[in-house]
Amino acid sequence: MKNSFMKRLLCCSAFVIFLTGLSFSANAEFNGEADLQKITLGKKLFFDTNLSKPVGQSCASCHEPAFGFADPRSYLPVSEGAIPSRFGNRNAPSAAYAMFSPELYYDPTMRPGIMEGMYVGGLFWDGRVDTLEEQAKQPFVNPLEMHNPNKKIVVLSVRQSEYAGLFKQVFGSSAFKYAELAYEYVAEALAAYMRSPEVNPFTSKYDYWKKGEAEFTDSEARGYMLFTNITMMGAKCANCHSVSSDESQSPSLFTNFGYQNVGTPRNPELLYYFLPLPLNPAGDNYVDRGLGDFMRSAAYPEEQAAKEDGKFKIPSLRNCAVTAPYEHNGVFKTLRDVVVFNNTRDVPGAGWPAPEVAENVHRHMPPMPRTFGQLGLTDQQVDDIVVFLQTLTDGYQP
Ligand code: HEC
Ligand code: HEC
Repeated sequence: MKNSFMKRLLCCSAFVIFLTGLSFSANAEFNGEADLQKITLGKKLFFDTNLSKPVGQSCASCHEPAFGFADPRSYLPVSEGAIPSRFGNRNAPSAAYAMFSPELYYDPTMRPGIMEGMYVGGLFWDGRVDTLEEQAKQPFVNPLEMHNPNKKIVVLSVRQSEYAGLFKQVFGSSAFKYAELAYEYVAEALAAYMRSPEVNPFTSKYDYWKKGEAEFTDSEARGYMLFTNITMMGAKCANCHSVSSDESQSPSLFTNFGYQNVGTPRNPELLYYFLPLPLNPAGDNYVDRGLGDFMRSAAYPEEQAAKEDGKFKIPSLRNCAVTAPYEHNGVFKTLRDVVVFNNTRDVPGAGWPAPEVAENVHRHMPPMPRTFGQLGLTDQQVDDIVVFLQTLTDGYQP
């Protein structure tokens, strides 16, 4: 699995280099013109607001490029669906760089700061699908998202679109003949777009700085040092939001794609609590157990699932400055809130609400100063980390 991750990574970097015209590296998986056409088609699908019922919502409505491919409506903790006032249970993550997540697997390796193995990979906050193709099939028929009654209706809308010709060019003249198959093609094209350099550009100030083409301010440089310093004096963020040891081969993704319960509090403003019972049978008592719930639904033994309760995928922090609110339930409105929480969660008197899921909270045992939850960072250091996180936004002009 690790191998396939590296392959994907290398394959993509070759692709980025090819498209930016620096050099061409022959790549078995890249099929020139045909792949570019598939990406163009995927992009059309991604932005098509006619693919929801009622019409008006596209993938981009919740994954807007200018907002790091996350939901631009930062005043909402979770996204609103195609039907007004229907809200999902989770904050829309950035869809950028998702292509680098490997398939879900258990990695028994102990890592710095994480004294046990952990699940790694998969997509969504709970890792419930393995590929971008499988991912792309869900929003269209999710009643809280694009709300199509079935796949057939989606295919019919694509068939009536202005890009139906392109669809046939890419997938053959009888591409629409079988709705099931055509729906697979829709997912395939969307996934191709999600893997394209446009969605994974690596054009942040951080990337230019690493290439020696931009300079960090003192505050940014201090923030970077704290973020990556995993000793007692550092903030140890990179234990989970990892940085690459060789940026030119595999640019940092600021995640190791693992799962942890960082003790995120319940979000009382989660609009999902207030949905009618058929849409949320648990009402106000709903608890999001993340990976644990997924494993239960996938029939893993209860004993195994229970160990994953409350764990969510460690998100990439690329573009996080423009993807507010934060965490799987949108409980924090600013980056500073997140960093202050990580700094003081376990400090007596800090006043943070209890974790939504009390089991499996990431905490040094026995509790110890200068570990997650009581990092001992000064206000200035918190600010420096926030300033550093702001260098991860794509589209920087050096
Ligand atoms: C109504 C808002 C909404 C729409 C529309 C929507 N998404 Fe999402 N998307 C979300 C939410 C919320 C999640 C996280 C859900 C979860 O983890 O359970 C998500 C997760 C994802 C992820 C996973 C990212 C990761 O790192 O795990 C990708 C990729 C993605 N969406 C792509 C798409 C595509 C492609 C479409 C169109 C077919 C789409 N989304 C439509 C809200 C939306
Ligand atoms: C033990 C692993 C771990 C460590 C260490 C860690 N994080 Fe995280 N981080 C996570 C997880 C897991 C989430 C998602 C939690 C959730 O949604 O409930 C997260 C979420 C975030 C988010 C929200 C991103 C988003 O898109 O919603 C930010 C910002 C963040 N972390 C920054 C930091 C910083 C800065 C540090 C260091 C001070 C840090 N993290 C240390 C695991 C970690």
